[in-house]
Amino acid sequence: MSPVRRLIPHDTSVVANLARQHLAHHAMKEPLVCDDFDRREFERTLSRVSDPIWVREASGVIRGHLFGATMADGDGEQVTWTGPDGWSFDYEDDLDGLLKVALPYWREEGSSTHIVWSPAGSETEAWVQRGYSPFSVRAALAIEEKDPPTIRSEFNGDLTIRHGTLDDLDTALQFDLLIDASHGVDTATLSEQQRSSNTKHLTETLEDPETLYYILELDGVPIAQCITFPLPSLRGTHDGTIYLSDIAVAEGMRNRGYGRYLVRAVLNDALAQGYAYAEVRWRLTNLPGQMLWSSMGFHPIYAQLRRQIND
Ligand SMILES: CC(C)(COP(=O)(O)OP(=O)(O)OC[C@H]1O[C@@H](n2cnc3c(N)ncnc32)[C@H](O)[C@@H]1OP(=O)(O)O)[C@@H](O)C(=O)NCCC(=O)NCCS
Repeated sequence: MSPVRRLIPHDTSVVANLARQHLAHHAMKEPLVCDDFDRREFERTLSRVSDPIWVREASGVIRGHLFGATMADGDGEQVTWTGPDGWSFDYEDDLDGLLKVALPYWREEGSSTHIVWSPAGSETEAWVQRGYSPFSVRAALAIEEKDPPTIRSEFNGDLTIRHGTLDDLDTALQFDLLIDASHGVDTATLSEQQRSSNTKHLTETLEDPETLYYILELDGVPIAQCITFPLPSLRGTHDGTIYLSDIAVAEGMRNRGYGRYLVRAVLNDALAQGYAYAEVRWRLTNLPGQMLWSSMGFHPIYAQLRRQIND
């Protein structure tokens, strides 16, 4: 098997080129992915990172690379992250060689899980065959003006949308519990510490001047929410992308078109503010979330896959 070794300064431009080619290939097939890639900046990043970057070499030619950053996740568990530019390989044999060295290293560091971002679609296959399970997707849409869907007359009442403020913190906390529940969290068992951390996080969100909090009300009662903010520069994201998150509809009000109604209004508002693209994420276990976003035209551009590595 060809050798796998740590990256040395001499390799950085070759590895930057591999990452660029890998991303450009994806962007060529998927117009919702931006192919901007600052090679010099990427080379500087490669030379600065402290976690190891491995390269696979065959007959003196580098044929792939793998980088993972190990850090604590939201629950305090050590996990290792690999972004879309953190890997490349010519042949699956190269991926096997890289993983054979990287996985024991991360395990030794105390990491329980390897989380990797891959272009959505056929490129996930190589990972799936190596025990990785698709967990969530990043999906995008080029925004076009459209009318909000019609709500059936027995449900439409007096529908209004307003921007929430810190005064709506209790409403935001209620909807937050619904989102937790959709992720399989038993909200009755949340500790005091988790509840106060949620309150702190939502307070910061509502105070953030770049964040907009949309509340849909039916006859003056909040029945749905959505939060938006400009997406900071991420690999593959076009300039002028708005991120939609925390969509939730009150239980008992679902499957009546309110989710789509609010999202459509939010997208029209984003277009009026000058945004051209929108992005969302959903977990693959969340069927209603996936159905909502897909029915609005969002299309997966990256998939997140996970593999338990401490067993
Ligand atoms: C996801 C959610 C916001 C959808 O809101 P909603 O008001 O029920 O959605 P709508 O009635 O506008 O329907 C939107 C689409 O989703 C589909 N859908 C809604 N609930 C569904 C369910 N339980 N199962 C399958 N599909 C569902 C609808 O069929 C509809 O598609 P269609 O019109 O093409 O048939 C709502 O289920 C919710 O609040 N869930 C908890 C929070 C959450 O999971 N947020 C999403 C995080 S990604």
